[in-house]
Amino acid sequence: MPSETQDAFRAPVGTHDILPPESGRWAALVAAFARRAANYGYGLVITPIFEHREVFARVGDSTDVVRKEMYDFEDKGGRAIALRPEGTAPVVRAYVQHRPPSPWKVWYAAPNFRYERPQKGRYRQHFQVGVEALGVDDPDIDVEVIALAHGFYTGLGLRRFRLLVNSMGDAGSRPRYRDALQSFLRPHAERLGPEFAQRVEDNPLRVLDSKNPEVQALVADAPKLVDYLGDESRDHFERVQAGLTALGIAFEVEPRMVRGFDYYTRTVFEFQSDALDGAQNAIGGGGRYDTFAEEMGGPPTPGIGFGLGVERILIACDAEGVFATGDVALGATLDAFIVDMLGDGSSVALLEELRAAGVAADRAYGGKSVKAQWKAADRSGARFAVILGREEAAADSVGLKDLGSGEQHTVPRAEIVPRLADTRNAPRQEGTTR
Ligand code: HAM
Repeated sequence: MPSETQDAFRAPVGTHDILPPESGRWAALVAAFARRAANYGYGLVITPIFEHREVFARVGDSTDVVRKEMYDFEDKGGRAIALRPEGTAPVVRAYVQHRPPSPWKVWYAAPNFRYERPQKGRYRQHFQVGVEALGVDDPDIDVEVIALAHGFYTGLGLRRFRLLVNSMGDAGSRPRYRDALQSFLRPHAERLGPEFAQRVEDNPLRVLDSKNPEVQALVADAPKLVDYLGDESRDHFERVQAGLTALGIAFEVEPRMVRGFDYYTRTVFEFQSDALDGAQNAIGGGGRYDTFAEEMGGPPTPGIGFGLGVERILIACDAEGVFATGDVALGATLDAFIVDMLGDGSSVALLEELRAAGVAADRAYGGKSVKAQWKAADRSGARFAVILGREEAAADSVGLKDLGSGEQHTVPRAEIVPRLADTRNAPRQEGTTR
């Protein structure tokens, strides 16, 4: 058994260090999301990693995320604080606090903290990229937001995922559904235990996303939300579906999908990957929250958004064999590695010149032997080695070796930097091992 000291110096259970080259894939994913969000008119929002606990109480006091999984504590000033378990509440809090002109369309990339039972695809710290759009009621924005996420997945190369949609109804229709659901569930309360019974009374909608197989079997026959929608909610939902169809985005209506938070109204959606295990197959989800801003003391402001789980997306990418490390420009992927046989300091100047020209370049340090430098060049994954040799130096030139094909030739010193800058974006040759 590992000693306590050993455990203390490991990342806590349910958390992970992301090291190069995997971190490069993360950076590339976030950069791709940033480009896409900007393209749809969303600006970056950065909120604190912790908030007053009260901000998240609004997410739903009867939800697991708030009731059981929150990392909350009292700070040294006696304030009740919680690490962000999800991204929507902080953004709505910021909207209410700053009152920016609406529509307010923002995107984010940030870690979230939930004290869950860790397993593959379920962590205590997970990272989401997401958007929130506040101040727009139009079903067109529901379609826009869903299309943004959908195109992001397909842009990464993902194909084996499904989009599920549902409508949660609004303040008018929800109570009627709640009553019907309670009447359906109550007769089973004794058999399914006190926790179930409590839920049926406190928040029967939460019973619908229970993970208990017995409850799931029961829920399969429960009344459906869509049958209780008022005219406005039904019309909104139909227009969202028509909009998705018009864009050629396939979806399934999942009549009992309620998602894990109490703030949702009307449209909710989830993207599920068929390449992932059942309980962790959601690679993203979101929906409308038309009363949330008001509940936080702001003016009545409709809102909609989503969060996509980066860890799960990358697991899905691996399973589908897409968006591999090698496709990514933002890792520690080197263009050139210098093999210095002169040791006269000229490699330092050349490295600076290469980097200034945008060529990702590196070297070995500490006066390594030429053999050790070749080994380091190989391991670095660089496409080219630039050789500073005596003969070449005498002719005011350098050697340039393609580490994939093994081809080598001499290049005038004055030409090496522009030459490498030119080839920088050219694709690597097929059949190379790097
Ligand atoms: P959520 O469904 O709780 O929604 O989380 C969004 C995504 O984050 C999930 O679909 C999943 O990919 C990922 N995720 C959630 N929990 C974990 C975990 N423990 N480990 C790994 N990945 C996880 C929200 O958080 C809402 N704020 C989304 C939203 C935005 N709704 C409206 N606007």
